[in-house]
Amino acid sequence: MNGERPRWAQISGWGMYVPERVLTNADLARVVDTSDEWIVSRTGIRERHIVSDERETTATMAVRAARRALRVANLAPSQVDLVIVATTMPDYPFPATACLVQDALGAARAGAFDLSAACSGFIYALSVASSFIRSGSADHVLVIGSETLSRMADWTDRNTCVLFGDGAGAVVLSASTERCGVLASELGSDGSGGELLIVRAGGSRAPANYNTVSNGEHYLRMNGREVFRFATTIMPKATEAVVRSAGWQLADLDLVIPHQANIRIIESSIKRLGLPPEKCFVNVERYGNTSAASIPIALCEAVAQGRVHPGDKLVLVGFGAGLTWAAAAVEWGVPVPAKPKPGLRVLTDFLFGWAGVRSLWRRTTRHVYNWILGPVGKDDWRGRMRQRADRLRKGSGK
Ligand code: ACO
Repeated sequence: MNGERPRWAQISGWGMYVPERVLTNADLARVVDTSDEWIVSRTGIRERHIVSDERETTATMAVRAARRALRVANLAPSQVDLVIVATTMPDYPFPATACLVQDALGAARAGAFDLSAACSGFIYALSVASSFIRSGSADHVLVIGSETLSRMADWTDRNTCVLFGDGAGAVVLSASTERCGVLASELGSDGSGGELLIVRAGGSRAPANYNTVSNGEHYLRMNGREVFRFATTIMPKATEAVVRSAGWQLADLDLVIPHQANIRIIESSIKRLGLPPEKCFVNVERYGNTSAASIPIALCEAVAQGRVHPGDKLVLVGFGAGLTWAAAAVEWGVPVPAKPKPGLRVLTDFLFGWAGVRSLWRRTTRHVYNWILGPVGKDDWRGRMRQRADRLRKGSGK
C-alpha cells in the first residue's frame, strides 16, 4: 500500500469463455413461433452460445475466463487479493459463486463476493474493484461477469428466449502508479422500474414451491418496450456523465463498448451521442445478450481484433434489471498484446492444476477431522475419546 503517491487501477489481464454449443435463430424457430428475419431485424442477434452440459455453470465458465485473464496478466492466482463475480444467475443462493471461483483458481489469499446488478453488474464490479485498488486495500482484483441465462429463460416465451446467451468475461485490475485504467465511473439505479425485468420466485418474497414452479415464476419476465425506452435514454446520458467525470470530451473517445443487448439500442445511443458507428464495438450478433458477461466479452474481442491500443480512451456502458445503469471511463494502459513470459506461464499452469489438489486436500481433511472429532454427544464414542484425551492432557489421567 502506498499512502502518498496516487494509485490507479489498470486492466492488466483479460479473458473470455463461451460454451461450445451454438443456438442459431433457425434452431429457435423450431422451438417457438419466431423467425430469423424477426430476430435479426428487431435485435441484431443471429446466434448465441448456450450451455449444454449440466456440469457447466456460471462458476465453471467464470473460472475459464479468469484463468485466461490471469495468464495475460502474468499473475499467479495466489497474488489475487479479491475476486468479484457479477452475475444474475449464481450457482447457488449461497455460497457466493465468487467463493467457488476462488477455490477453483487456488486464489488462497483472496476475499470473494458476488455482485448483483444484472447487466450493469460488470461495470459496478469494476468500479468497486477500482476503489479497492485506489484506496490501497488491494493490489490485484479479478473482476468477472458470468451468466447462464439459458437456465433462467422460459423456452416457450418468444418475447425473451430469443434474446439471451451464456458466457463469461474477466479482467484483472492491478495497481499502477501511472494515470491509466479506470479513471472514472458512474453508477445509477431506479428501483421503481424493478417490475420491468424480474424473476418473481425463488427469493424471500416467493420461495420456490410447487405453485411458483407450475406458474413459471422462476423464469425471467420482461416488458421489452419499456426496457428499450429506458435503455436508449440512459446509455447516452451515462456515457456523457462518465466522459465529463474523466475530464474528457466525447470527441476524445476512441471506442465505446456498450452492453450488447440489442443492435437498435446500441445504434440509437451512438447516434444520440453524435459518434460515428466505427467508434462503437458490436458483437451482439454472435452472442446475444449475455447480461453481466457481455461487456467483458466484447472488450476481449475488441482487444483481439486490434481495436484497442495503448493510450486509447474507452467508455464501457451498460443498463439492466433493477433498473440499473453504469458507465466506466478507461484509459488503456498496457501493451497489446501483453508480452508472454513462458516460465511464468508454466508455473501458472502448474498452480491452476495444484488448485484442484489443494481444494481436494482441504475438503478431505475437513471430512476426516469431522469424522474423528465429530459432534460431542452423550453416546458419541468420538466425543468420549476427545474428552478422555482432554483429561489426559490436563494430567488427571482418568
Ligand atoms: N418472434 C416473433 N415475434 C415476436 C417475438 C419473436 N421472438 N417476440 C415478440 N414478438 C411479437 C410480439 O408478440 C409483438 O406482437 P403483437 O404486436 O402482435 O403483440 C410484436 O412482435 C412486436 O413486439 P414489440 O415488443 O413491440 O417488439 P420490439 O420491436 O419492441 O422488440 C424487443 C422487442 C426485442 C424485446 C425489444 O423491445 C428490446 O430489445 N427491448 C429491450 C430488451 C433488453 O435490452 N433487455 C435487457 C435485459 S438486461 C438484463 O438485465 C437481463
